[in-house]
Amino acid sequence: MRQFLDAGAEVLATARSAAYTAPEGAAFVTADIRTQAGAQALAEAAHETLGGVDILVHNAGGAQANADGGALTIPAGDWQDALELNLLAAVRLNSLLAPGMRERGSGAIVHISTAALLPPVPAFAHYQAAKAGLESYSRALAAELAPYGVRVNALGPGRTATPGGEETRRRWAGGDGESGAIGTPPLGREGRPDDIADAVLFLVSDRARWTTGTYFSVDGGEYPRN
Ligand SMILES: NC(=O)c1ccc[n+]([C@@H]2O[C@H](COP(=O)([O-])OP(=O)(O)OC[C@H]3O[C@@H](n4cnc5c(N)ncnc54)[C@H](OP(=O)(O)O)[C@@H]3O)[C@@H](O)[C@H]2O)c1
Repeated sequence: MRQFLDAGAEVLATARSAAYTAPEGAAFVTADIRTQAGAQALAEAAHETLGGVDILVHNAGGAQANADGGALTIPAGDWQDALELNLLAAVRLNSLLAPGMRERGSGAIVHISTAALLPPVPAFAHYQAAKAGLESYSRALAAELAPYGVRVNALGPGRTATPGGEETRRRWAGGDGESGAIGTPPLGREGRPDDIADAVLFLVSDRARWTTGTYFSVDGGEYPRN
């Protein structure tokens, strides 16, 4: 968010927890975007605070690792949560906010996926399936909105030092959590939030004006997709 503020953007952030602190200069609204009511509250706040949005970044995501390590025994509720948060929240928010971009003839949407999509990790099958769905949906939406000047891209972080990332790796200390990998990413360290934010800022900026429907890895070279 800091990079967006520094670049002159007006920012509205959301989270379920009121304790969450947006940086000074950013507006904040409490909402659970897994629900239609939460998505609606965020969209209304966006209209009231900003008069609509030019940029939409779907960042909230994650899932609990299945305790026994398997894909077959992931609880039904965890499947539902993973799909609601990682996929359907983006679908709902786009439905509420992308029509305004289409009418204005410009806009940029970024869906935060994961670089660790392809290595099979049974305990995170629900998470990986939801993110795979998000990437597929992202490409379809990009095709639909391109004629209106609205760009849609997906970005996959590698292991990044955030509260959620560290909790994921701690819970799965027997293996290596979401990444399923051992050792250090090729670029020699794990990611920092600003590594991801800089790449998001690029994708929504005019420098990426001819880029839509893509997937963009920001993972220190850990998960080549080609
Ligand atoms: N960190 C990594 O290593 C890593 C690796 C690959 C992909 N990713 C992806 O990167 C994105 C960000 O991950 P992160 O590590 O920064 O996660 P994080 O530390 O858990 O932060 C997630 C943020 O989203 C908010 N949030 C969670 N559920 C929400 C909900 N239902 N409604 C509204 N806000 C909600 C959280 O606040 P509240 O809890 O207060 O709601 C928190 O501010 C996710 O999509 C994740 O899948 C992260």
